[in-house]
Amino acid sequence: MLSKENNDRITRTGAGTPGGAMMRRYWQPVALSVELSTDVPLPVKIMGEELVLFRDADGKPALVGRRCPHRRVDLSFGRVEDGGLRCLYHGWLMSGEGTCLDQPGEGPASDYKDRIRHLAYPCHEAGGVILTYMGPAPAPRLPQYPFMSATPDRVWATKLHHECNYLQGNEGNLDPQHLSYLHRFIMASGLNDADLNTAVSRDPAPRLDYEETPYGFRAFATRQAGEGRSYIRMTNFIMPNNSAFEGSPLVDPRKGDRRGNLGYQMNWHVPIDDTEHWKYMILYSHEAAIDRDFIEKIVFSDIGADYRLARTAGNRYLQDREEMKRVSFAGLGTSFWAHDKFATEAQGVIVDRSEEHLGVTDRPTQAMRRQLLSAIADVEAGRDPLFVERDGQPNALATMAVVSKDLPSTTDALGNWWQEFAPQRRELEAQPGD
Ligand code: FES
Ligand SMILES: [Fe+2]
Repeated sequence: MLSKENNDRITRTGAGTPGGAMMRRYWQPVALSVELSTDVPLPVKIMGEELVLFRDADGKPALVGRRCPHRRVDLSFGRVEDGGLRCLYHGWLMSGEGTCLDQPGEGPASDYKDRIRHLAYPCHEAGGVILTYMGPAPAPRLPQYPFMSATPDRVWATKLHHECNYLQGNEGNLDPQHLSYLHRFIMASGLNDADLNTAVSRDPAPRLDYEETPYGFRAFATRQAGEGRSYIRMTNFIMPNNSAFEGSPLVDPRKGDRRGNLGYQMNWHVPIDDTEHWKYMILYSHEAAIDRDFIEKIVFSDIGADYRLARTAGNRYLQDREEMKRVSFAGLGTSFWAHDKFATEAQGVIVDRSEEHLGVTDRPTQAMRRQLLSAIADVEAGRDPLFVERDGQPNALATMAVVSKDLPSTTDALGNWWQEFAPQRRELEAQPGD
């Protein structure tokens, strides 16, 4: 459990809140690249701030305040032209840096435009995702995720709307025990990972260990896997709202092996405001091309063009009691993100953690909360929190890997067993630190 005060500190991310100040020290996804065309501005809301994205004359994403500095008209209706975003009402032209380039009504002799300063946040586009930094200058170094420098065929990203606080989403990612229930199938569907289902069904009480790292922590769920064997699944918490784990298959398992450390999935939970969030799901492959047809047309086909699911609280997530008898434990279809959306929304929009009764399987969840509270305290004390990196500092993600394996039961989960199976570590170490 958590005190109400601490619950507020880690769940509230609006401007001026302690949690919001901490979250603004990190680069955050603000949209998918495919959402932003060259000439249509995109209204966005992130951590309670109403903003608008557009592409500048070079096609680079720019992020500015939604309301025109003149008389507050919504700039997302404006025209992308002349190197900026022009307001429809009186024609003021705003640049992506927040300067005012033109005020037609003021006349050519006026220098009034030079005194206008509009809200603007820096952006960076990589791997199909547009990231922004909303904290105080100078912005920290971009996180060195391999997906950001991978060839386009090895990255795939989408997002999914959630009607609950961002933290519930991320707590679910570091909660490996729920694989044995929420995501369990009674009958394999062919598309789902039969090996994983067998492993998590066989032992519903995994031993959970974690160790802190320079980016957050890595957690290990160890399950009994038959005579003398253990199945160890590694999941990473990446400060302050990201995670990396062995997720969706990157190739069609009917055509090839989904295992063998092909890559991993990241779930990055970005607050829209305190009661809604976007879950960015980013698939990354170390070497082989991702099977995009399979991913888009089959695996993620339940996510609509509006990045929402048909399953909502309003229709009780289309739960099927017949399916529960024969196919799945939850009766909520085959997609894990639909299950997770149900579970995290069904906690309430902002779960009251003072009312919880945590068990041994919640240790990683508690570790996450401690790291977030500690990061908030760091920001309040004027220090950079964990995993805010400056030029010249080592790349914390060089120590991040995603490995899940069937191993001898004598294996120490907290030992170095995973390092020989971790191609992403070698890739990261090969990258420059800045
Ligand atoms: S309100 Fe935007 S130019 Fe007047
Ligand atoms: Fe889940």
